[in-house]
Amino acid sequence: MADRYLNFTGTAPGRFLTRRLGLPQPSALRRWTPERPYLEGELLHLTAGEGLSALPDLSSVLARTHLKLVPDSSRPTAVVLDATGISDTPDLALAHAALHPVVRSVAENGRVVVLGAPVSPSDHHQAAAQQALEGFVRSLGKELGRGRTATLVRMRSAAAAESTLRFLLSPRSAYVSGQVIEVGEAERSPCDWDRPLAGRTALVTGAARGIGEAVAEVLARDGAHVVVLDVPSVQADLVRVADRLGGTALPLDITADDAGERMASALAPGGLDILVHNAGITRDRKLANMPADRWNPVLAVNLTSVLRTTDALLKSGTLNRGGSVVATASIAGIAGNAGQTNYAASKAGIIGFVRSLAPGALAEYGVTVNAVAPGFIETKMTAAVPLFIREAGRRMNSLGQGGLPVDVAETTAWLASPASAGVNGQVLRVCGQSLLGA
Ligand SMILES: NC(=O)c1ccc[n+]([C@@H]2O[C@H](COP(=O)([O-])OP(=O)(O)OC[C@H]3O[C@@H](n4cnc5c(N)ncnc54)[C@H](O)[C@@H]3O)[C@@H](O)[C@H]2O)c1
Repeated sequence: MADRYLNFTGTAPGRFLTRRLGLPQPSALRRWTPERPYLEGELLHLTAGEGLSALPDLSSVLARTHLKLVPDSSRPTAVVLDATGISDTPDLALAHAALHPVVRSVAENGRVVVLGAPVSPSDHHQAAAQQALEGFVRSLGKELGRGRTATLVRMRSAAAAESTLRFLLSPRSAYVSGQVIEVGEAERSPCDWDRPLAGRTALVTGAARGIGEAVAEVLARDGAHVVVLDVPSVQADLVRVADRLGGTALPLDITADDAGERMASALAPGGLDILVHNAGITRDRKLANMPADRWNPVLAVNLTSVLRTTDALLKSGTLNRGGSVVATASIAGIAGNAGQTNYAASKAGIIGFVRSLAPGALAEYGVTVNAVAPGFIETKMTAAVPLFIREAGRRMNSLGQGGLPVDVAETTAWLASPASAGVNGQVLRVCGQSLLGA
């Protein structure tokens, strides 16, 4: 559904009028296109305190991002502040001193990425200082405006975080802001950065339309063979998507008792590298008015089937080593939402599932498990929301607009990349830094 307000503020009279009236002025976000796949301009690399960097290999990773790495810039497209060496609270002044003079000059649709160290469980001075960076970055995300985003990445080595830094410093992360991402140590497989999923097979549930269709499209763009799954009643749409992407259609209801086994046999003999649990439904009603027949299907589709099919695909060996699972949560599962006790319970359950399964799945099966948590995304699901609630959902985030299905898809593709092996157990919000659950 078109965001008429965003289109209006993109015109000269619209800008003039909204400025005079003190109304929000969201910037049109710069997203990936084949013609302009990278952010252009200068990347300013700053360190909070000389000699404090814990990342000696960072410059070479940043030099590969397609931005021009510079020590000084009057109009940077992106600023990366290495704050990994901050180990006590007085050092926080160094983060302020580094960013204060440059933050105003960051270009429209630019990026501020702060690199932190993992928070220490045993050194409370380091823990306080590193945790402080979280409040700092989340506040900065709310201040920047003009399509600019701020993110904190906690990491141990630049090499393991290269795919994450490339994602954040590209147009693919346009709707990701105010987030904290932890990247662990990982052996990075060699990777063609333009087609990181080449030779991989991906299964996307709920792919006949909306976010699932966009996910399948982006995974195919990045080189994957996509198997698109949806309920048999939308088979015609599903086949259309599969044909367009050179993929395979799998009409199947994920709540069927044997859904996991049927997925496994459809994927034999090569198995599966990327499993995207995207299918989801809503049956909104306040709890007092919610009969069991509105509660049960939401929990069955959004949560129980995700656990059952993942278990079946892991235990049958269908999910190949080096693979990844990406499940779909929602900010409703973080913040809660009136009328959505069923939906929010299912989506919060996804977060519990991901956090609990991730370490064991990596150790036992060599598979990462992460979630995306979309905020307000322009789809048929949100087009059905009443006008005033829809308008509030669109504006109540730092970027002042709804996201597009492709924003969730780009984040999914980054999590699914073999180069993102160090990203595990994360729940990444794709919400333009929504005020809900912030
Ligand atoms: N749109 C948003 O703003 C938003 C926000 C947060 C989370 N999400 C989540 O993102 C996911 C996709 O949302 P969307 O807006 O594209 O929804 P959508 O309704 O447009 O598409 C969902 C797809 O899932 C399929 N599906 C439903 N039940 C199924 C079943 N039992 N077996 C197989 N397929 C089934 C549907 O047929 C449909 O094609 C959902 O999990 C949703 O909860 C969406």
